[in-house]
Amino acid sequence: DQLQIFSPATVANVSCGYDAMAFALESLGDEMTFRKNDLGKTRIVKIEGADLPFESNKNVAAAVAKRMLQDAGANFGVDIEIVKKYKPGSGLGSSAASGAGAAFAINQLLNNRYTKLEQLKYAMFGEEVACGSQIADNVAAALYGGFVLIRSYEPLDIVSIPTPSQLFVTVIHPQIEIKTEDARNILPKEIPMKTAISQWANVGGLIAGLHSSDYDLIGRSLTDHVVEPYRKKFIPHFDALKRAALDHGALGAGISGSGPSVFALVKGAEMAEKIAAAFNEVYKDSAIDYRIYTSGI
Ligand code: HSE
Repeated sequence: DQLQIFSPATVANVSCGYDAMAFALESLGDEMTFRKNDLGKTRIVKIEGADLPFESNKNVAAAVAKRMLQDAGANFGVDIEIVKKYKPGSGLGSSAASGAGAAFAINQLLNNRYTKLEQLKYAMFGEEVACGSQIADNVAAALYGGFVLIRSYEPLDIVSIPTPSQLFVTVIHPQIEIKTEDARNILPKEIPMKTAISQWANVGGLIAGLHSSDYDLIGRSLTDHVVEPYRKKFIPHFDALKRAALDHGALGAGISGSGPSVFALVKGAEMAEKIAAAFNEVYKDSAIDYRIYTSGI
């Protein structure tokens, strides 16, 4: 009647795949506990590591849990504890970790009543609670693990992509706030055909590289002509971070989701540490507080 889970942080977009690709981090994420109660109420009983709402219509995990329990006609409620290991507003899918974690756990408590796709839809409802739109990328990666492609939204079609064994990620989270909604509003509504062609060619390259463990191809494909040019100006030292990553041997680097975190994909755990040091060099004298993480995928 009690479930303790790890719900991973996620990097959405992966440079070329705006709203269509994401991956989950193996070793960064939230710890969540779900305990059945007889009151029939969904309650957040503990939040550690972040200043998040306790109200069940504002808290993402509670909102998702409440809706799933209601739809299932469950005769029990649930008490939820959340221990956040990284800050919300990071561009690392913090709300998605909460929503996907709740969808996964409540489904377990309901003896696997829902399919994976149904769980995903509930988690997407959580994203709406968090940022006003039902974006699937972060929640799909958190729920499915590894790399995912959102092949279609209508109907929802999620494709799991294999992860090469030596693929690691380094992330720097400059602790400034960028609202996903703002980061979406600054993007152009239309793009030139030429830009579209290079973008979908890179998405194809990235998928092919992940399938064949072709690290160089993965690196060549981590280019974003659509979103990065508009968003990077909100991230202090973005160009220097990217330069540092590439100069020190990363396969590629870009903005994690809607930012401000910046990620680099690398081959090997040692290289991930090397890039962490390179990121640190760029930020160490800056006035902005920051955290750096390395992880497998
Ligand atoms: N794909 C989204 C964006 C990330 O870049 O705005 C949040 O899910």
